[in-house]
Amino acid sequence: MALINDPRKLFAYKLGTVLSGEKKILTMLKKLEKRAQREELRQQFRHHREETEGQIRNIEQAFEALGEKATGRQNPTITGLAEQADVLYDKTDDEILDTVLLGGAAETEHVEIALYEDLITQARAMGEQQVVALLEQNLEQEQHTLEEVKRASERLAQRASGRPASVIAETAAPSGFESPGQ
Ligand SMILES: [Fe+2]
Ligand SMILES: [Fe+2]
Repeated sequence: MALINDPRKLFAYKLGTVLSGEKKILTMLKKLEKRAQREELRQQFRHHREETEGQIRNIEQAFEALGEKATGRQNPTITGLAEQADVLYDKTDDEILDTVLLGGAAETEHVEIALYEDLITQARAMGEQQVVALLEQNLEQEQHTLEEVKRASERLAQRASGRPASVIAETAAPSGFESPGQ
């Protein structure tokens, strides 16, 4: 098989891995929505599922802007995250399942952010401003979702322990983060 030796072709290939990844994530989010025990989480996952549908359209538009056919490519990272999440869901009692769902969601958002940041850097270097704008929209949604997921995790941990979230955050912070005067 001929190797990819053109940065634009390489970019299109990587965009294809993100296209497949987002489609897989769409399925994961439907599962999260179904399995979430709390209504606020169900709503959060539903909202991000709708956003993800738009993200897939943005990626398809990015392919169009590049004059390339939208082709999905293997994404073992996202597939692996989905498999790992399924294993944990099956092992966890409904009572504490939301914590597991949020943990998996945070892992996935981190990966998506890394993928989009890399693609945006490459698209900017190629002078593909329309592609940059489309992918930046997706990146912002992922960053916002990660923040919401983290906040929801903190609220859950707070309820479980009966302590305020701020106390948990302080206790969890490594000592290296303390200011010199402390
Ligand atoms: Fe996404
Ligand atoms: Fe996401």
